[in-house]
Order: sequence, then structure tokens, then C-alpha cells
Amino acid sequence: MKRRSLLLAAPALLLPGRVAAQPLPADPFPLGVASGWPRADGISLWTRLMGTGPAELGGGPRTVRWILAEDDRLTRPIAGGSVVADPAFAHSVHVDVRGLSAGRPYWYRFDVEGRTSPVGRTRTAAAAGDSVRRVRLAFASCQQYEQGYYTAHRHLAAEELDAVLFVGDYIYEKSWGRDLVRRHEGGRTVSLADYRARYATYKSDPDLRAAHAAHPWIVTWDDHEVDDDYTDNFSPQERDPARFMAQRAAAYQAFFEHMPLPASLAPQGPALRLHSRHRFGNLVELHMLDDRQYRSPHACRESWGPGKTLGPACTERLDPRRTMLGTAQEAWLTEGLARASARWTAIGQQTLMAPLDRDSGKGEGATFWADGWDGYPAARQRLLGAVAASPVRDTLVLGGDVHSWWAADLAADPGRAGAPIVATEFVGTSISSQGPSNNRVQALLAAGRNPHLRYGHGGAHGYSTVAFERDRATVEFKSVSNVKKSEASVATLKSFAVERGRPGVQSA
Ligand SMILES: [Fe+2]
Repeated sequence: MKRRSLLLAAPALLLPGRVAAQPLPADPFPLGVASGWPRADGISLWTRLMGTGPAELGGGPRTVRWILAEDDRLTRPIAGGSVVADPAFAHSVHVDVRGLSAGRPYWYRFDVEGRTSPVGRTRTAAAAGDSVRRVRLAFASCQQYEQGYYTAHRHLAAEELDAVLFVGDYIYEKSWGRDLVRRHEGGRTVSLADYRARYATYKSDPDLRAAHAAHPWIVTWDDHEVDDDYTDNFSPQERDPARFMAQRAAAYQAFFEHMPLPASLAPQGPALRLHSRHRFGNLVELHMLDDRQYRSPHACRESWGPGKTLGPACTERLDPRRTMLGTAQEAWLTEGLARASARWTAIGQQTLMAPLDRDSGKGEGATFWADGWDGYPAARQRLLGAVAASPVRDTLVLGGDVHSWWAADLAADPGRAGAPIVATEFVGTSISSQGPSNNRVQALLAAGRNPHLRYGHGGAHGYSTVAFERDRATVEFKSVSNVKKSEASVATLKSFAVERGRPGVQSA
């Protein structure tokens, strides 16, 4: 593991062209450039060399040079070097730059044997002790390539942001959906080659590349980066655990190869420690969670109702031993919340945390979706207990997954009527993946069983932003006019405020 990451980040020992006989195409950077994991003193840079067309490059290692500068024309370079793009990692490159100044933009570029990549812009985070007036983040998720265009990313690229949080379903492992506007190559992804090709297809979209080239990203994953509805070592599509773990290892490696992760996060077989903490001056501390890799199996799988739901008969759902984050990550989060010291806490995670009773009113009783936090209520209560116990009183939970927009008041004990609100939740809709109609969402709200859900909106696509300031946070839901058209405008559908010291959703 150590040696592997050293190899990725080490200065090149091979002369270009000596080992690699394969000719480079005119543009070996068709997947673009990206940056991520902004720190006060550094940033992680990413690219991947490709062969002609969508093919892998093949051949041996290549030496890639990088440069990072204080201006967009790269006339004031302040860091640079070379790294080996190793075929064992699909000729991807992960560079961890250190020694930078806090809270300022930088521009970067790669070159290989005289061919240059596009220029990317990035930004370091403000130092923990720095007094910051405003931190602005975007959050987005769920970009099924076939179901729509990525115009949301085009507009997101033009935003002024400190970072983009991507909270899962960056790729989809299979073809599905209505009114497809373009198609995946190949079937369901299983092998490393399948996953690599799928990421290359997604990153062939210029709007997605633009969003990466404009902002540093902090990412987590959900199920579709591996397999639909998987939990830990179990997949409903591949029930042999050994075979599934080989698939998971391939998927995790391809994820690493295509995301701007620090080199130190290279996977070890089917394990990749993705949960991470990020500080933005004195204003925001972000805890980014991974609720897939370590979670307990779904409750009562064999007796799910329509829409993967569980009724009152499933008592397994309530078992306190059930976990969403796994023991180690849960302890890491609890400890991090206990010593939190920024003005605001942000928790980035995959899905809707607030309870959503889907009872249709036909007498089946309280009904919950098995794959979300509602399938793991004891784990949710422990998490919210840690939020309530934190010295930081103002927490925003940011999520995705449900392909619709939601805003919710989160109580410390969501199962108890009148329990105090301890956090405020905003869930972003999908970039492109199809979701419930707005009629369906409004029916769920109108049923009256979910009063803590203060807003919902279905049938729309886009991204969301949150601006943290000293005394308030402002959230905006930004909707594209038509996801099925490659040219679409964006408009703010709804704005919310959270006042410091008063958790809960307010209209802005
Ligand atoms: Fe999704």
C-alpha cells in the first residue's frame, strides 16, 4: 500500500518513451483534469492518459509533468514536478501538492511528451484559524448518463464555489430508464475494464469535465459506483460473496483511478477508506461519510413491499446492532463531532436522513424505504445523538440519492413526537437520473405523516448550493429547464435559510 502510493507520487525514474512503445494520440487527456481534497496548504490533482478514441492507452508507464501556478495563464508557476502514470492504475495520475497558501485560487496543467492537458482551476481551503466571511459549497449526485444531459454541471462550473461535494452515483453500473438521450457502451459493469470504460464514457461529457476543471471536488459514493443496492459484501445481483468482493475491488479501483483523491487513498483490494474531514477556516467543518462500504445487510429483504419498502411486521429494521457506517467510521464521526470547533458543522452523506413514512393510507401502517436511513433507524439515532452532544450547535446534513429535493428538520430522536430539532437537512435532486414525479412527492407531503419534512419537489434535475456565513446559512435549489435537451437554462427553484442557534428549515 505504502509502496504503491509512493510509486504514484514519486518523481519519474523512467525516461519518457523508453519503455512505452505505444504512440500517444494527439490528445491523451480526453477525460480532462480535476482537483480535490482542498486543504489549507495543498490540493490533490488528477488526470488520466487515454489511447486513441475511448481505448485504454496500453503499453508501459509514462512520465507526466505537472505545473501549478498563481495565474490562469500559468506565467507565475509556484510548484511542479513529474509523476509516473502507471498502467496498473489505468495511467491515472494523482499528485498531492503541498506548501501552498491558504484560501486562494490556483491553476494547473499536465503535459506528456509535448502534449498538454486543459488548464484546471482549483482553490485551497482557508486555514482552520482564519476568520472567513463566507464559504460556499455545491452539492450534487446521481448522474445517470443515458437519462439526461449534464447541463447542470455546465452551470455549476460557472458558480463561485469553495468546493463541490458529490454525494454518490457518479456512474451507473447498468442501462435503465425512460426516454434515454444517449447510451452506455456494454452491459452491467463487473470487471475492472468494464468500470474503467464506464467512467471514460461519463467523463466524455464536456460539461462534467468543465465542472471538474472549475472547482475542487470532495466525493463520496453510493451503490451504483459498484452495484445496485449492495451492502458491504453482499449484492442482490451477485450473491456469491467472493465473486462480489472481486467485483467491488475492481469498482473501487476504477473509482480511485477516476477521482481527484489523494494518492494515499489508493484501495487495498476491496477496501478504500473514503470518509474524510475537511476544514474551511473558522466557519465550516465538513464530515464526508461513506454509508455503503460497511453497512449491515438490508432488513427483511425477502418480504419487501413495492418500492423496496418495509412495514411494521419487520422488527429486524429496529435492531440496535444494525449499522450504516460501520463501527470504526461511527466512532470516528462521534469523536470528530465531540471535538468540533468551527462555527458550522456540515455532514455530507448519500441519502435522505429524515424519516419518510410512505404509508399509502390503505391500512398497512408505517412504511419505510429499506435502503435509506429509514432501514437503519438505530444507527440514525446514534448519529443524531452525537450531533446533539457536539459543542457546535449548528449542523447541516447534505445528501442526495432520492432524485428529488427535500428540506427537513432533524430531531435528536426522530421516533419521538416533540423531540428537539438538532440539525437541518437538505437533500439535492439528481443531475440527470429519473426520480419520482412532483405529484408523488406532494402526495407524500400532504399525507400529514411527515411534518418534519418541510419541503419536497420531484420531477426536476439540477444541483444545490449552500453558503455559510457567520450568522446564517443559505441553501439554494437550482433546477435546469430540461434535462433531455443539451441546451438548458438554470433557475433557482427555492431558497432556504438556517439561522445560527436555531436549527430548522426557514424559507429565504
Ligand atoms: Fe442515484
